[in-house]
Formats: sequence, C-alpha cells, structure tokens
Amino acid sequence: MFGGITVKSVVCSSVTIVLLLSVEVMFAPRAQEHAAEVTNNSAAAAAKLLARNCYSCHNNVDKKGGLNLQTYATLMKGGPHGAPLVPGDSDKSRMILMVEGFLEPRMPYGGFLFDEDIQTLRDWIDAGAPAWTGDLARMKMENLPDIQPRIPVKPEIASLAFHPSERLLAAGTYKEVRLIDLDNGKTRVRLSEHAESVRAVAFSADGSLLAAAGGMPTRYGEVKIWSTKDWTLLHTLEGHNDCIYSIAFSPSGKLLATSSYDHLVKLWDVETGEEVRTFTGHSDAVFSVAFDPEGKRLVSASADRTVKIWDISTGEQLFRAFSESAAELYTLAFHPSGQLVAAAGVDKMIRIWRLSEEGGQLVRSTFAHGSPIIRLVFTPDGHTLISSGEDQLVKFWEVETLQEKHVEHQSDWVLALAVSPSGKVLALGRYDGSLSFYEMESN
Ligand code: HEC
Repeated sequence: MFGGITVKSVVCSSVTIVLLLSVEVMFAPRAQEHAAEVTNNSAAAAAKLLARNCYSCHNNVDKKGGLNLQTYATLMKGGPHGAPLVPGDSDKSRMILMVEGFLEPRMPYGGFLFDEDIQTLRDWIDAGAPAWTGDLARMKMENLPDIQPRIPVKPEIASLAFHPSERLLAAGTYKEVRLIDLDNGKTRVRLSEHAESVRAVAFSADGSLLAAAGGMPTRYGEVKIWSTKDWTLLHTLEGHNDCIYSIAFSPSGKLLATSSYDHLVKLWDVETGEEVRTFTGHSDAVFSVAFDPEGKRLVSASADRTVKIWDISTGEQLFRAFSESAAELYTLAFHPSGQLVAAAGVDKMIRIWRLSEEGGQLVRSTFAHGSPIIRLVFTPDGHTLISSGEDQLVKFWEVETLQEKHVEHQSDWVLALAVSPSGKVLALGRYDGSLSFYEMESN
C-alpha cells in the first residue's frame, strides 16, 4: 500500500491478475463550488415550493390570473401585470406582496404560506432569482431533495465503461458520471444533472460520445449523450415509463439501444435524439441489452427469464427466445466473435448459447456462484468470461470449457465490470462506492 494505491498480484493457471489501484471515490462537499451550490439550492427550493403551493392553479392548462408557472421561462413572462418578481428585490416583487397579503387577492388563493416558506421565496428572489431547470410538474412528482440535498455518503458505482483510448474510465454513480484518469486514479470531470443513479454508461466505438442512462423509478427513463471533446451535453433522451438499466451503441455509433424496467427495448437515433423503434415482447423488466458486432441484431435479457434476439431493421423478434433459465436474468454479454451469447441472473447459472442464421442453441452452462449473478463480461480476446455475484465473488472462466480459472474475493457486491479495450485492465465498481483496477495478463 503506497499513496492510496494498493497493488496485489495473483497468478493462476492461465491468467495473471494484479490489483493495480483501489480508489475510494470521495463525495465530500467541494469547497470551491460552495457559492454556486447555494444559488442552485435556492432555485431548487423555490421551485419545489411553487410546485407544491402554486402550480395547481398556474400551469400550462390552467393559467389563473394569466400566470403560468410551468417553467422558469413562463414564470418570468408573467401575467397581466408583467413578471411576478423583480430579481434581487423581493420587497418590490408582486409575488411576495401577494403571498404576504399586501396585494389582493392573497396567494396562494384560498390559503397561505408559512413565514419560512415566504422567506425561502425571498431568499431566492434576493439572490437574483436564479433559474431552475425543467418543469414544475415533474418537480412536484419527484419530490425534490431538501434544501441541503442529502447524498448518500458513498453512492454505489452502478456502471463502468472504458474510453477506447484506454486511459479514461466512466463511472456512473448517484446523479453523476465521473471520468477517471487511469494514470493517477483521479476524477478528471464530473457530469451531473442525471435524474438518479446512473445505471448504464457506454462510449461510442470512435470515442466521441458518452451515453449515460438511468431515470426515475416508476416515472421515466433518461439518457444523456455527452460529447467527449469538451463534455458538453448534446441530447437528453426521455422515453420509457421506468428506469433504463442497460444501453448499447451500435458498432457504427449511429444508434443507441436502451432497455428498461418497463419491459421494453428501444432504439434511438444518436444524431437527432429521436426514438426510432420499440421492441415489444418481453413480459418483465429488461435488464440487459447488447448489439451483435455487426450491428444487425440486438440481444436482450429479461426478468421474464428469456433472452430474445431482435432484427434491428424490422423490430421483429428472430427465432424463439432462449428460455432455459429458471429465474430472472440480470446480465448478458456478446462474445467478440458475435457467435456466442452468455447470460446469467438469479438462478446462479451461467449459460452460453451459440447463434446461427437459423436460431440459437445452448452449448454450455455451469453453476457459477452461490448467489444471484450480477454482471458478465467477455475479455476482448474472447478467451475469458468474467462474472460477479451477490456472493461477493468475481470469477474468471475459460470460455471454451466454462471451467473456473480464478476467483477474487470482494468487499461488497460488484455492480459494474469493465474490461479495457486492450484487455489488460479490469475495472470493478462496488455497491459500497469503491472502485478497483486489476491488471490482467493471459498466458
Ligand atoms: C387555488 C388557485 C390558486 C393558487 C393555488 C395560487 N393562485 Fe395565484 N392566482 C389565482 C387567481 C384566481 C389569480 C387571479 C386573481 C385576480 O385576478 O384577482 C391569481 C393571480 C396570481 C398572480 C398575479 C398575476 C398577475 O400578474 O396579475 C400572482 C403573481 C400569483 N397568482 C402568484 C401565486 C403564487 C406565488 C402562488 C403560490 C404561492 C399562487 N399564485 C397560488 C389562483 C391561484
């Protein structure tokens, strides 16, 4: 152990695995950003308050008194008396005069605000009435976090992806994606504004785009597409009626597939952000989706226990589903050859099917973990399959035989597994928020 870097070396029959680096992802408040956060918090607090107390009469459909509070822009447009507030001067703001009863009728119409709520509005206006983003309707439903958002001390690492350049890793956590520099384990960029836990991240094959997905449970799925050049947000895709659990770029980078708890798989045009197609047929949550290496087919694994193969151009399901699994499937992986698909989940088995033009056939299966299996990933050379389980083990399997080659014990569940494009580095992200890098050497 030196300078926060743990190095561990493991040699087994055909893989050498060295723990390169363990990073404790820190979520301590950032002092230099304090001022900005206070401002944002005042806007968030005001928006939440307006959503609770005022929105029902001042929205897109019902504009009582000619005032619409649906978005910050419509609020500032105001009613017949103009903007309802004067940024920086709460004393002169009509909204304040009305909630305090100095101007009739008192707002909220037929009710009143507590003093501390009025103070919240005043603080926001006196801070210059900074804009909030989004729509009040949504804020109301989401029940925005309190003024000091309570972020879990150590949010889980729910997803990981390597940039094709090998030197950068994207880690999806609670409401943000961290771009971690592999030369020193430090966070280079933090991409925020994500709705909730970022459950899936993926880079396009040319490395120019990063897609990060999640959404609000029981409400909607969300994907943000970022430019890796300057980390600007290019699109926010909203679709699905529940969280997105898995995403995949097509090999050309033109299409993005998403799978959701809402039983659906969707395909999106990356350039325009438009939805292209919906794949219906699963009867439960779809936890994993992948493109074949040619980009012609999609494969999805679902809690309905099946793996389905889809034709991308028609949206049709090809062949019969692979239905050997005895319980929910959580994860699948496409072998680099495009000929094998591995899937696993609650029944603790890893199964591998061989794909052909006519269909698929189960070729190998093994009882792999003592508890449900969370993730599977193939190494780029196609020789090794790596699995993580709720038994807190990570296992390495010979693909040819599905023989166990090596086991690594973990401090917690490994929710995210990613192998670098060269196959040399394995990154593990855990439920306890820790992240480790292992060096792998095949021989
Ligand atoms: C139950 C319905 C209702 C609720 C809730 C409500 N309002 Fe109103 N609001 C009205 C009506 C009705 C008018 C028009 C009053 C009039 O014309 O005399 C109005 C008018 C206004 C106006 C004047 C617009 C203008 O320029 O003439 C403002 C500002 C306003 N409301 C702010 C608020 C705020 C802030 C809240 C929440 C704290 C709120 N309202 C909650 C019904 C409501």
